[in-house]
Amino acid sequence: MSFEEMWRDLAPVGRFDATGGYRRYTLGAAELECRAWFRQEADKRGMPVRTDGNGNLWAWWGDPDAGDAVVTGSHLDSVPDGGAFDGPLGVVSAFAAVDRLRAEGFVPRRPIAVTAFAEEEGARFGIACLGSRLMAGAITVDKALSLTDAAGTTFGDAMGAAGFDPAAVGPDPALMAKVGVYIELHVEQGRGLIDMDRPVAVGEAIWPHGRWRLDFTGEANHAGTTRLEDRRDPMLTYANTVLAARKKARLGGAVATIGKLVCEPNGTNAVPSRVTAWLDARAPQESTLTDVVKEIHDATAERAQRDETGFHMVNESYTGETAFDPALRDRLSALLDGAPILGTGAGHDAGVLAVAGVPTAMLFVRNPTGVSHSPDEHAEIPDCLSGVSALVDVLRALA
Ligand code: GLV
Ligand code: MN
Ligand code: MN
Ligand code: MN
Repeated sequence: MSFEEMWRDLAPVGRFDATGGYRRYTLGAAELECRAWFRQEADKRGMPVRTDGNGNLWAWWGDPDAGDAVVTGSHLDSVPDGGAFDGPLGVVSAFAAVDRLRAEGFVPRRPIAVTAFAEEEGARFGIACLGSRLMAGAITVDKALSLTDAAGTTFGDAMGAAGFDPAAVGPDPALMAKVGVYIELHVEQGRGLIDMDRPVAVGEAIWPHGRWRLDFTGEANHAGTTRLEDRRDPMLTYANTVLAARKKARLGGAVATIGKLVCEPNGTNAVPSRVTAWLDARAPQESTLTDVVKEIHDATAERAQRDETGFHMVNESYTGETAFDPALRDRLSALLDGAPILGTGAGHDAGVLAVAGVPTAMLFVRNPTGVSHSPDEHAEIPDCLSGVSALVDVLRALA
């Protein structure tokens, strides 16, 4: 099974023809099909698959219980209408790297595992990297089990419906202790490698980032008969928050995005009663992020007073400063003929594991569009194969 063949097999799964984007939501039909693909690829290679209690997939080359494993992979879920590469590139490349190592007769001294972590994007249940956070004990079991999707299904029920045991969800220190090192290969989600004219980079750090839920409340009323001065319109307050987020982020050297919104009752001829929006904010430094989020909060609270609307803001997830293992990073860069070292504003399971103390590194593969979380995300096959070769070199050196 070459890289190209695996890529071809996975390409149609969960692709939404009207947009060309992927809708692979955790434990939904398309993502379960991706899991079946993972099992088949592992079976073809004689790699036994274990699903841990949190729905993360592990395919083993070597003894899963021996410990000090060299683990590599990424995720198979997507954002709504996401690209083909964010996640799957790391998993396909991991299997391809195993093939190359075996073809050259390499005999690992340490077990190697290929992984696919569950709900990395948080697109279904709202918390990114849910599978790795659970495994690392970075989120409580109660909170995780009660997360709901848009239809009101809890994560616990979705696990049960997919045949997993919700009672097994939670921290897995035994499995964590077996991970000697984690390497995640990922498509680059910006323009760093285009600008440097290089195919592969080594990850440096992930910007601090978080998600906040913003609840705006007002009073539903008739669009034709309610005088403007009599309205309590949460959409108006929300609209000002979007503008404030842009302004405060720009001034602070951060990024802030409101990309998800629920309006109730969502009728053309009614003033809304409630708007729920989600703020995604990220910055190179934690202090900047804290300041920017506070300024967005304060500007909104002030505006809500003027609009006579209710406003409440809750943090749903937060990941602080995440530097990958510096010695490992420099070793990989040297091993890969001086591959450049790149930071990123994107979150990854590698970040969660790094915060949990696992020596962790990332490899980024050039994305000629520089676009991600969109159908326009791309990587050329020769660059993907350079990524596989880099991963082969890294696994050979570590395992
Ligand atoms: C996940 O991809 C994120 O960085 O939002
Ligand atoms: Mn992503
Ligand atoms: Mn990803
Ligand atoms: Mn990500």
